Amino acid sequence: MSAHAATLLVIFGATGDLAQRMLLPSLYGLHRDGLLPPKLRILCTGRSALNDEAFAHTVRESIERRVAAAERDPAQIDGLLARVRYQPAGVDDPASLATLCETICAMRDGDVVFHLSTAPRFYAPICTALGQAGLAGPGTRVMIEKPIGHDLASSVEINDGVGRIFAEERIFRVDHYLGKEGVQNLLALRFGNALFEPLWNARHIAQVQITVAETVGVEGRGDYYDHSGAMRDMLQNHLLQLLCLTAMEPPSQFDPSAVRNEKLKVLRSLRPIDANDAATHSVAGQYTAGAIEGVAVPGYREELGRTSGTETFVALRAHVDNWRWSGVPFYLRTGKRLPSRCTEIYLEFRAVPHSIFGDEARIAPNALLIQLQPEERISLTLMTKTPGLDRSGLKFSQVALDLDLHDAFVEVRKRTAYERLYLDAIEGNGTLFVRRDETEAAWAWVDGIFNAWKQAGTTPKNYPAGTWGPASAVALIERHGHSWRE
Ligand code: BG6
Repeated sequence: MSAHAATLLVIFGATGDLAQRMLLPSLYGLHRDGLLPPKLRILCTGRSALNDEAFAHTVRESIERRVAAAERDPAQIDGLLARVRYQPAGVDDPASLATLCETICAMRDGDVVFHLSTAPRFYAPICTALGQAGLAGPGTRVMIEKPIGHDLASSVEINDGVGRIFAEERIFRVDHYLGKEGVQNLLALRFGNALFEPLWNARHIAQVQITVAETVGVEGRGDYYDHSGAMRDMLQNHLLQLLCLTAMEPPSQFDPSAVRNEKLKVLRSLRPIDANDAATHSVAGQYTAGAIEGVAVPGYREELGRTSGTETFVALRAHVDNWRWSGVPFYLRTGKRLPSRCTEIYLEFRAVPHSIFGDEARIAPNALLIQLQPEERISLTLMTKTPGLDRSGLKFSQVALDLDLHDAFVEVRKRTAYERLYLDAIEGNGTLFVRRDETEAAWAWVDGIFNAWKQAGTTPKNYPAGTWGPASAVALIERHGHSWRE
């Protein structure tokens, strides 16, 4: 696709939580470092009847709260605000949308990016209004946020609604995990080094674990979360994207089609989990009251203020049925109110085929840990000899070759996911966005698990906040001689 850098960014839902927490601070970071196109203007819209001045106040507040003091420069904040305008519009009110579109047409003097940070049910009506105003043709792009639907059928409906107006190559589906530095690093590690690729397969890897653990609860988003749960909120998108990047074949180039074609093949190779497998391949959990880092926290139902059957934790034993990964389990787990915040991918290599040191030597398998959060770190564990005279045989210790990317690049400013994703969308590069067929393949697999749960009568098991999920999550993996990395 030939795209020019956009000169107008229109944010729908600009007074919402995501915009205030992530989007506006990220735009500040880009502006401050001179990374936004000089001509770029930002039109923000939301339901709240604010004028430019009142909206500017919310932008200042958001930067104050989210950007470190050392990085806040009043002149740069004013510079960002000079690009920003606000116009209220009700996304379910065609008349106010039409008025907004008039403003957009008047402001437009080049490519435009629309970022829809609203509830997904508004995506199609907003796109329809844009289309009617002649704002959906060449030179326009639309960014849409997850969740794209609730299941395959609703995601097809949303994708159809948006796709009737915008061509697929101009739809940028955001999964903010793809914008994280650590995810880029996974690609750099796999495809920028010759060392790992020959080992990256079932012959050498015994198991893979992908963990996205959060200490937070539902953070006042109970109404959204209770309709979603850990599977739809995190696993269908973030964890499956991490799995794709870990398991995919090397793309021939780092470009949108090549990368997304390879990810799609992984999603389509996921072995369905049916009712017979539900108990052995999946665990759903819901937190009860407990403590995180010594602080007492309420249970999910107390936070929500009502009873609920929604899972706040999910663990799966997945398989990618292809030559490269035949027989290798991919253990996935994610949950709220777990003991620590961490996102990591852990690959355990096969044990040595024969120990020349005898059974007492206790040689643990090598492992590669790619940690994305809270800090970026890559660590390769190797066996070394424990120092000593070893009169009764060599003793071994596990030692990590550690690459602490935080320390290694202490001078380099860390970028947020949205800084990267905004720049890519402004420049028209879709490599780090999710294509329609990917999101639908992910839903098809996840829908299969929900059906299995329904048929098997699976309901979430309780786990106290501050623990690693229900006991059955441990059984899920230990049954196969593996254990979660903790
Ligand atoms: C969002 C989920 O997509 O990702 C949230 O909706 C979750 O529930 C968040 O807390 C986690 O993102 P991060 O970047 O903090 O790991």
